[in-house]
Amino acid sequence: MIEIKDVYKTYNEGTPEAFDALKAIDLHVNKGESVVLSGVSGSGKSTLLSLIAGLDKPSSGKITVDNELISKLPDMHASAYRAKTVGVIFQHFNLLEALSVEENVMAPLIHSGYDLVKIREMTEKSMSLASILHKKNAEVKALSGGEKQRCAIARALVHEPKLILCDEPTANLDRANSLKFIEILHALHDMGKTIIVATHDPLFEGLSFVNKVVHMEDGNIVNKEQGVGSSE
Ligand SMILES: Nc1ncnc2c1ncn2[C@@H]1O[C@H](COP(=O)(O)OP(=O)(O)OP(=O)(O)O)[C@@H](O)[C@H]1O
Ligand SMILES: [Mg+2]
Repeated sequence: MIEIKDVYKTYNEGTPEAFDALKAIDLHVNKGESVVLSGVSGSGKSTLLSLIAGLDKPSSGKITVDNELISKLPDMHASAYRAKTVGVIFQHFNLLEALSVEENVMAPLIHSGYDLVKIREMTEKSMSLASILHKKNAEVKALSGGEKQRCAIARALVHEPKLILCDEPTANLDRANSLKFIEILHALHDMGKTIIVATHDPLFEGLSFVNKVVHMEDGNIVNKEQGVGSSE
């Protein structure tokens, strides 16, 4: 599903502030795998996710997702790739506060070409999957943190992406809501989605459905643990 070969990312390239955020990254993720990306603040987790999401380009190296060469996609094609293949869940939910849950969740489908009946059907399905259907008419600004996160999940899933990328998804959630989030991820894993979660939340340690823990340090991948329960 994802093939990353010798990827470097240098911010402010060619200036005195040049900074290598990613160095010689190689990573292979199979379809249907769940991967936890760990590492301290500044190790390059968000940078790597943004490259896989097609939100930014590597300085060199190759990224292929679902047989598409993402590292070279022109911006227009990169947004089409995201609209088709990727769902992204951030720490800050990036929701439109004055709109309802349903309107937020539906937003990515506006230019999808689907008719309104289909859009409503996909929106309901996604809200149900993310356990937020009961709040569909509520304004986002009236939701709790956990509910906002579930609204963001529903929006990320509404176009039925194969690949789900999460960046510190539980950083603003209490334990109960974090566990609920993990339950939803588990269900998505069982549906065959490919999932990458960048996190330093200890709740993600030792989860039965996580296939790989990839540890990052200073822009490098320093180990690739296969399976769960293996010791450091
Ligand atoms: N746009 C940018 N311009 C310059 N440097 C950047 C930029 N974005 C990130 N960096 C630097 O690249 C490094 C990696 O950042 P990144 O956000 O990928 O880390 P992270 O592992 O996600 O950290 P955190 O756990 O704090 O989210 C950091 O040292 C950061 O300061
Ligand atoms: Mg980050």
